[in-house]
Amino acid sequence: MLKLDLSKLKGFVPEDYLNARENALTKAADMLANHNGPGGDFTGWVTLPRDYDQEEFARIQAAAKKIQQQSQVLLVIGIGGSYLGARAVIDMLCSPNYNLKKKNTPDIYFAGNGLSTDALLELIDLVGDRDFSINIISKSGTTTEPAVAFRIFKDLLEKKYGKEGARERIYATTDKARGALKGLADAEGYEEFAVPDEVGGRYSVLTAVGLLPIAVAGVDICELMGGARQAMEQLSVGGAENPAWQYAAARHALYQAGKKVELLAGYEPAFRFFAEWWKQLFGESEGKDGKGLFPASVEFTADLHSMGQYIQQGERLMFETVVKFAPKGEFLIPNDPDNVDGLNFLSGKPLAFVAEQAMRGTILAHVDGGVPNVLVEMPAISAQCVGYLIYFFEYVCGLSGYLLEVNPFDQPGVEAYKKNMFALLGKPGYEDMKAELEAKL
Ligand code: PA5
Repeated sequence: MLKLDLSKLKGFVPEDYLNARENALTKAADMLANHNGPGGDFTGWVTLPRDYDQEEFARIQAAAKKIQQQSQVLLVIGIGGSYLGARAVIDMLCSPNYNLKKKNTPDIYFAGNGLSTDALLELIDLVGDRDFSINIISKSGTTTEPAVAFRIFKDLLEKKYGKEGARERIYATTDKARGALKGLADAEGYEEFAVPDEVGGRYSVLTAVGLLPIAVAGVDICELMGGARQAMEQLSVGGAENPAWQYAAARHALYQAGKKVELLAGYEPAFRFFAEWWKQLFGESEGKDGKGLFPASVEFTADLHSMGQYIQQGERLMFETVVKFAPKGEFLIPNDPDNVDGLNFLSGKPLAFVAEQAMRGTILAHVDGGVPNVLVEMPAISAQCVGYLIYFFEYVCGLSGYLLEVNPFDQPGVEAYKKNMFALLGKPGYEDMKAELEAKL
């Protein structure tokens, strides 16, 4: 299903970069399979496409149907790993213009992923008088951004439909035993879905965290899980032929050869949020202990006209990973008898042919400019392919973290800003820290 082309790394990394890492990769793959490496308690995602909770999966499908029938809008409230996966998949499979399209599924808005007053007011306005449901998603159940947004929209819902009507429209995805949201959901009687203990936020898109909103958008979540399962089965066979091993080895070799940035490039506007999801996955997993490739993204060809100059000739610190999908449809470039724009050499050619040559030309130019290239080719933008790609990147990320000798499943750095914010906001328990921080400001 996935084709990986690493030929454009020649000259940038030693010829034997994969062989040189086979032992380390064997060890990394064993730790993932046996859940006994650093952060092993959070490697439940490795077998999730096979071992997911079937009963909960059926409840997700039923809840999605109910939301589709009951509401014109679904508000998905969450941040980081509790939102990016759903947004990525919905953009990819239903279009970034999903809300603007004619459809028989609800509009979906994402809230609680920032603290902008203007964005919040605009969202309240956009929802307007329409019937809406809420999916509040927070594994810890204590994250400030989604908690604030939930307080606001829960209140709106209760004013509109009363407590009972609101209860009918609120779905809570959180830890199965702990946290403020769990307590609230129990007390209010919301339908609950679990973020499994052994799956961290950024690896949770194939749990209820991602699956409920994705199913509400009308995506076939069985197909999505099927694609992920196919990846799981193929990638669990170790060795030099395994594309996840190849990509993880290449990333590590490039990092050791001095490349500090991995630029993920897509040619589809629908891929933009997938790249955001990917950035969180790799950034939070590898960026620690003073190590890690910085994950960045660009959307081509648009960004060739803004970032292209830097990529071609700026600081030589990056390599590029291009993800390419075969198009679903075909569009032929029309002929102009007067050829006023001089484009008739393209008349009758598919737009995809032009895009292909743009991609090939760009890869060659960037490689000549000192930017090594990894090309990932997928046959289509389909639920199966997206499921496959999600698992592929998750698995590569796990292997890569272990090659780098970091714990790819924790995120201690995320806590620093949270503690400072709580202290500055005057949260009880942070009094001493508040004084200390204010003296520094
Ligand atoms: O990957 C992670 O762990 C984070 O990005 C979290 O998903 C994010 O901070 C949101 O946390 P929570 O789901 O606990 O609200």
